Amino acid sequence: MGSTVIEVRGGRALHGEVRVEGAKNSVLKLMAASLLAPGVSRITNVPTISDIGVMAEVIGGLGALVVRSDHELTVDATTLTSFEAPYEMVSRMRASIAVLGPLVARLGQAKVAMPGGCNIGSRKIDMHIRGLQELGVRIEFGHGYIHATAPEGLKGADVMLDFPSVGATENLLMAAVLAEGTTVIDNAAREPEIADLTAFLVGMGADIQGAGSPTITVTGVDALHPVEHRVVGDRIEAGTFLVAGALCGGPVTVRGFNPKHLELVLTKLRAAGCEVIVLPDGVTIERTSIARPVDVQTLPYPGFPTDMQAQFMALMALSDGDCIITENVFENRFMFADELVRMGADVRIEAHHAIVKGVRGLSGAPVRSPDLRGGAALVLAALVAEGCTRINDVHHIERGYERFVEKLAALGADIVMKADTMGTASDGCEE
Ligand code: UD1
Repeated sequence: MGSTVIEVRGGRALHGEVRVEGAKNSVLKLMAASLLAPGVSRITNVPTISDIGVMAEVIGGLGALVVRSDHELTVDATTLTSFEAPYEMVSRMRASIAVLGPLVARLGQAKVAMPGGCNIGSRKIDMHIRGLQELGVRIEFGHGYIHATAPEGLKGADVMLDFPSVGATENLLMAAVLAEGTTVIDNAAREPEIADLTAFLVGMGADIQGAGSPTITVTGVDALHPVEHRVVGDRIEAGTFLVAGALCGGPVTVRGFNPKHLELVLTKLRAAGCEVIVLPDGVTIERTSIARPVDVQTLPYPGFPTDMQAQFMALMALSDGDCIITENVFENRFMFADELVRMGADVRIEAHHAIVKGVRGLSGAPVRSPDLRGGAALVLAALVAEGCTRINDVHHIERGYERFVEKLAALGADIVMKADTMGTASDGCEE
């Protein structure tokens, strides 16, 4: 089999400095937003991760010309030749749904495959749909596709989201910027990636007030123009390296992001006994005594990010007591916990709560990366596990982390990525 695996020999100290890339969850939406204006937009601080390639294919299939070079890309959206995002693409990456709003705003129609379930839960899109309908978009479902039409153009409206969904807020923003009149999105998501998208859209000539608050007001404009924009630093990549530092002791300095975007995570790391020093563009972390147990519950921003839940659980697995980790954002996001248990952790799942009893040590084992963040968390656990851990299904990790293995190795980890010469059936580490 030609797949790759990560092998980690645990127990090495980690120290030094690491730099994070631009935020995956922002740049994917910025690429979709580029479709709104004819001309060439330029995006910098773009991470080299596989999801970017998928989005490039999605918007390339719509007629946009995407050119990628080192940590930059340009999108020439002068001529769009299609309004369809096919199933082959959307099924590879749910974030493809982000083209729905821009397409219907620019072309008056869009046909986007329904994303279906994914491995962290059902991930519905009802709020995207209902919000667009409020803006006057006619929606029809058939043959697995959403067909959205707005022959008369979009009309501003008041939209109250049931839940501050990141994706729905983004799709509505990208549709409302070209709608006639004013749109008010209430109970909007407040994630830093929403503020980044807003800055991008404002750079294109959009009129948006209140991004970063629960009420965003968009006054539609007739046309937008291309923009040049630097992607916000990836707070989740940063948080992942901070937990690596916390697990191994550090000190580890993570730069390239805004520490304010990780405030609650830093608070919880401090509560766990870590020393956390906030720098203008990053954070230094060190842990000198055994981690203390800390309860966390994931919530929309500024709550504790669901995308940090797995990594934090890896740290709590080795704390000197019991804690409860509650997942409120996605159903079914504890799959990696089963793998952690195979490494010796004591974790019991009760509905959307994980009861974690700290253990003295973890032991290397063959594991599977169940999803992006769960996979990263298993690598972190492997850094402190006794012996060798072999992590399979690494493609999940490559979706969102650029040079993850290289960056950890540069900090001192004994970690390699290699071809899975043993095949997926045989999971032990090669000696
Ligand atoms: C984005 C991020 C993901 C992050 C999540 C929450 C990207 C590419 N992904 O995902 O990494 O974990 O935000 O911070 O940016 N929901 C509905 N109906 C809808 C929309 C959402 O019920 O129409 C539910 C979802 O099933 C989920 C919850 O709302 O349970 C949160 O989803 P949402 O905030 O939309 O996350 P995504 O945008 O999919």
